[in-house]
Amino acid sequence: MLNLIFLLTLLTAVLAGPFDDKDAYKVSPPYYPAPEIGRVPTDLRWRAALKVAQDLVANMTLIEKVNMTTGTGWEMGACVGNTGTVERLGIKSLCLQDGPLGIRFADLITTFPAGITIASTFSRQLVNERGAAMGRENRRKGVDITLSPVVGPLGRHANGGRIWEGFSADPYLAGKLAAEAVTGIQGQNVMAVVKHIVGNEQEHFRQLGEWQGFGFKDLKQPLSSNIDDRTLNEAYLWPFADAVRANVGSVMCSYQQINGSQGCQNAHILNGKLKEEMGFQGFVMSDWLAQRSGVASTLAGLDMSMPGDGLVWADGVPLMGYELTKSVLNGTVQEKRVDDMVTRILTPIIYLSITPGNPNFSSWTNDTTSWKYYGAKAGGNVTVNRHIDVRDEYTTKAALDGANAALVLLKNVKSALPLKNIGKVNIFGIGSATGPLGAVCGENMQCSDGALIEGWGSGSVYPTDYQSPFAAIKERAEQDNITVGGTTESWGNLTKVHQLSSEGDASIVFVLSDSGESTGIVDGNIGDRNNLTLWHNGDNVVKAVAEHNPNTIVVVTTVGPVNLEKWINNPNVTAVLLTGPAGDFGGRAAANILFGDIAPSGKLPFTIAKNDTDYIPLTTEVPKDGLPQDYFTEGTLLDYKRFDANKVTPRFEFGYGLSYSNITLDNLEARYAFPNIPEFLPPPLPPVNPRKPRNNFVPRANETGFPDDIHPLHKYVYPYLNDTSDIFNSNGTQYPYPDGFSTTQKNDTNVNGGAVGGNPALWLSALYVVHSVSNYGPYDTGVVTQLYIAFPQDNDGLKTAPRQLRGFERSELKVGEQKGILYNVQWRDLAVWDVELQSWRVQRGEYHVYVGHSSRDFVLTTSFTLT
Ligand code: BGC
Repeated sequence: MLNLIFLLTLLTAVLAGPFDDKDAYKVSPPYYPAPEIGRVPTDLRWRAALKVAQDLVANMTLIEKVNMTTGTGWEMGACVGNTGTVERLGIKSLCLQDGPLGIRFADLITTFPAGITIASTFSRQLVNERGAAMGRENRRKGVDITLSPVVGPLGRHANGGRIWEGFSADPYLAGKLAAEAVTGIQGQNVMAVVKHIVGNEQEHFRQLGEWQGFGFKDLKQPLSSNIDDRTLNEAYLWPFADAVRANVGSVMCSYQQINGSQGCQNAHILNGKLKEEMGFQGFVMSDWLAQRSGVASTLAGLDMSMPGDGLVWADGVPLMGYELTKSVLNGTVQEKRVDDMVTRILTPIIYLSITPGNPNFSSWTNDTTSWKYYGAKAGGNVTVNRHIDVRDEYTTKAALDGANAALVLLKNVKSALPLKNIGKVNIFGIGSATGPLGAVCGENMQCSDGALIEGWGSGSVYPTDYQSPFAAIKERAEQDNITVGGTTESWGNLTKVHQLSSEGDASIVFVLSDSGESTGIVDGNIGDRNNLTLWHNGDNVVKAVAEHNPNTIVVVTTVGPVNLEKWINNPNVTAVLLTGPAGDFGGRAAANILFGDIAPSGKLPFTIAKNDTDYIPLTTEVPKDGLPQDYFTEGTLLDYKRFDANKVTPRFEFGYGLSYSNITLDNLEARYAFPNIPEFLPPPLPPVNPRKPRNNFVPRANETGFPDDIHPLHKYVYPYLNDTSDIFNSNGTQYPYPDGFSTTQKNDTNVNGGAVGGNPALWLSALYVVHSVSNYGPYDTGVVTQLYIAFPQDNDGLKTAPRQLRGFERSELKVGEQKGILYNVQWRDLAVWDVELQSWRVQRGEYHVYVGHSSRDFVLTTSFTLT
């Protein structure tokens, strides 16, 4: 009934026009109970893993179960997250470690290209290989669960602090790449975690205490991302479904609120969307301290609390841990919910054949020996760092291939690139050389005084062997007897810049733009970027160089879109390359492309605007009531879709990127994968009633105290109760269960659900689009081709962006080579979310198919009609 009321409210709001009734978006409907694992038909491997997990859980005491759901506290183990153990059954602590581009806080590792960087390769294969390489290094360091990949932030804001960690604001691209990342990582017996579900699009106000600490004293609640139903499904949740479909083991919930309800206690998202509709069979972990309530979060679908501490960092006071023990004993939380939490944790561990218990590094010190429980200064003096070099040829190649293929050629006139007939070249810009502090420039890489290797925050790692662009170019230039000079001077009257730039046959300027997580402030940017201009006076350095050198080449390394207007049309700027933070091999890759050893093949994973105001602004003001509301009024019109819909011409559109070679596309054909593509989803299979092994232990309060052989460590999080006297002491008041609360599993399946990844019909091939691509030279090169589809626009309520990416492919083509390209367009790729139906729908009408080199440069088109 309540769902119905919510729907009606939502409907009224939608019919009234999006966001006319803003209050309608400040509520998130209830969804209870948390769907149990095993209720959707799965493949044999999931089923077998589930059975093993269930048998284990049936043999666990309440204390043992609770211990698996909760971290041991910040710095209470080798990794950023460490779960409690079940010694009796040989279950060791799980090591959870960031992050999205490599292993955080570890030595002797590879710094891989960032998410946004690898996305610009538009290559499933390179993303898969990068995932496999990351998985491999994680496995060797003893990491069981890597907190990667990122699809939230999706990239709503050009200046969102963490958009470089993820792939792209295009949900289709982000989803396909996330699936590859998950498959690559998990193939190495390491669990992937797709994060952060959902709406974590900006750093501003993501957490209360953190942002009050930045001086926003009037803030009373974290930001609420208020997203309409259709946009949630078609944009922000979309890539999560791809990751679930790829069998991701875990999902991390986000810090901020979603439609007025805290991300980690949002029953609609966690129970309704993720576990019911997407059929997710793993566990939901909280972001670090994103859990803001105990029972409410547990009921809303949260399965694991990280890092274990609850409301405050490192104080040893949990929201799960012994509090969860208590809530079961006093009957507030049913034990079967805890059983489900633990089964959800164990099943993917077994499914992925993970053997926990072997981290050989410490996140907290570089010393070889130290405290075992660093946060408690206890358990010393043990070997905590074995300094194992986990890099090998495969991981190095994956990182280098990714960096090479990521560079996007934005401009190339007068045959400036690749460099030819050059005797002397000068290199400029802070971005060309390693900064004064070295490549590792502070905890979480909170710095930007040198070449950009990555952004800052939990998504960063410590580079082991970084080669700067200057060093890489110099090394390469020596082969051709080219003299290399330069300066990183960037401020003042730029005397050296003026002097040197008139000397060389070419001048190369390395400029950058940085951002990160709001755990750190760099140059006044609290995670999110304050603007889209180049850092370190970059525009003026470029202009100064271009004043003297008619062959000025600019290489931009950036965490996201930047404004290039001050010099992009300067005739002396003959070539421009752009890349995201590319990790260890950013310098080498730039040298490879500049000298033509490798041809550029990257495509922009975002749009570069002419005016900064063309982008969706951040919410940076705290309103009078202290409750910042962020209305996602643009709906699904993100990035290029917004520019297309608003008829705004950008400087460089999504998907743009030039080649050194002449590429042609021909012979387009679109064929139905089967006749009569249906309009609606067929009903899924009914829910499975999973076998439930009988639990062998009945929890009793007097069995939950500290065992004699455990001497509690200071600030360590335990499942045990110190004192059982307050368990039932609720003053006769009943726990205020949320509206719509129930403990009975639903006996029907949501039409969108029914399998891992949702209704299997979503993923059926609907359309095959084929064409040929030829490389007429003069370079062997990677070639990215793109497919966009325009949906019927007759139904006012279901209007879509003018065109949406629905296929992409990167191929390697030698000179003279021709290849056939096939795009497999799935039913979901043609579907829209019908708010009234609360389901997907493939509209009847005319569809237009566009194939080309970018989101605006189409070479081939065709159309088809569904009747
Ligand atoms: C970040 C997560 C990260 C976690 C653990 C949080 O601040 O938002 O992405 O995985 O810390 O380091």
